[in-house]
Amino acid sequence: MPKYLRVGDVPAKRHVVHRASTGRLAEELMGEEGFAGASSLLYHRFSPSAILSAEAIVIERACPAPNDALRPMHLRLGTFADTGDPVTGRRLLLGNPDVALCWVHATRSSELYRNAAGDELSFVAEGRGVLESVFGRLEVGPGDYVVVPASTTHRWVVEPGGPMRMLVLEASGHLTIPARYMTATGQLREGAPYSERDLRGPDGPLACDGEQVPVLIRHRSGWARHIHACHPFDVVGWDGCVYPFAFSIKDFEPIVGRLHQPPTVHQTFAGQGFVVCSFVPRLLDFDPGAVRVPYHHANVDSDEVLFYVEGDFTSRAGSGIGPNSLTLHPAGFVHGPQPGSAEAAAGATRTDETAVMVDTFRPLGVTSSALEVSDDRYLRSWARPGQPAISRE
Ligand SMILES: [Fe+2]
Repeated sequence: MPKYLRVGDVPAKRHVVHRASTGRLAEELMGEEGFAGASSLLYHRFSPSAILSAEAIVIERACPAPNDALRPMHLRLGTFADTGDPVTGRRLLLGNPDVALCWVHATRSSELYRNAAGDELSFVAEGRGVLESVFGRLEVGPGDYVVVPASTTHRWVVEPGGPMRMLVLEASGHLTIPARYMTATGQLREGAPYSERDLRGPDGPLACDGEQVPVLIRHRSGWARHIHACHPFDVVGWDGCVYPFAFSIKDFEPIVGRLHQPPTVHQTFAGQGFVVCSFVPRLLDFDPGAVRVPYHHANVDSDEVLFYVEGDFTSRAGSGIGPNSLTLHPAGFVHGPQPGSAEAAAGATRTDETAVMVDTFRPLGVTSSALEVSDDRYLRSWARPGQPAISRE
C-alpha cells in the first residue's frame, strides 16, 4: 500500500456535504477488502453510478494450456509487432488463476478501461506515455513499474510516435509492498530497497467533459462495456492510499553480499500467489572465492519467469537470450547458469543486467501466443555442443 496522498479539493472532514462551483459533489469510497482495507475517497461532479447502458463484450484471447511436458521456454517478445492498444492489444502468454502475464506492443492509445477483477502491474520496457485516470495524470517511461488498483477507470495515452512495449501482469487480487519492508505503523523501513520518495502518484485532478462515454470493463467472469452519462474523469479532489503509482526499476537499491544473495533480496512487489523481483546493475559477490553467477536451483514451489530488459546477462550468455526475451523455468525443472559462465565471470566485479522476475506459486499455463514466439532451441541450451538431439523433442 503506498503512502497517504491528498490531491485537489477535499473537505476538512469525511462524509460531509461538499460543494464546488458546479454544485454539490458526489463522494465515492473506493475501498479494498470490503470496508476493512486500504481506501481512497473521491469527489465527483456527477454521480459515478449514472450509466445509460450495459452490454457484454467478447474479447478474444489465447487460452493458457498446461505445460504438460514441463518445458523450459524462451519467448522472443521483440518478435511481436503492433499488437494494438495497451488494453485490447495485450497478447496473453502465460497464466494461472492468480495472474495472467501479457505482452503489448502498443502504437495507439487505449479507450477508457477498468479492470474490476484485480490490480494490474505494467512494466514499461520501451516508450513513453501517460496513465490518465480518475485520480489524475501519471507520466511513465522506460523502466517504470505502473500499478493500477482494481476498478480504477483509466486510459493509456501512448506518446505520439510510440510504441509502448510493456509486460503486463493482470492479478486476481491486490499487489502490495512486501510486508517485511514495512514498519508496524506502515512506513517503509530503513534497509528496504526503496522508499516512499521513489513512488510517484498522479500529479493532480484531471477533468474532462463529455456525455455518453463508453468504458470497457474486465470483470470476474468476462468483459463488458458501460455507457456513462458523463465523463468519469470529473473528480475535483481525492485522498487516501489507493491510487495508481509508478516506481522506476532504476530506483531499486540492490542488496549485495560477500557471497551470493538469493533472489528474495530483489523482491519488489507481492501479489496473491506470486512475487515480483527486480534485478538491477550491481556489484557482484566480493569474496575472492565467490562464484559470481547464480548456482543451479530447483524452484520447488514456484514457476519462474524472467523478463530481460537490458544488459549482458552474464549467467546465460550463449543461450540466445537478449533484451525483450522472456524465459519460463517451471517447478520440477532445475535451471542454472550457462555452461562455462561461472569461469567466464571469475574476474568480474559488477553486472549491468536489468531484469524483472515473476515467481508464481501455482503452475503457469502456456498460450498459443507464447508458442508463436518460442525459441525451440532453448530447451537444449544447457547441453554441451555435440550432444545428440533426441527426436522425441
Ligand atoms: Fe532462477
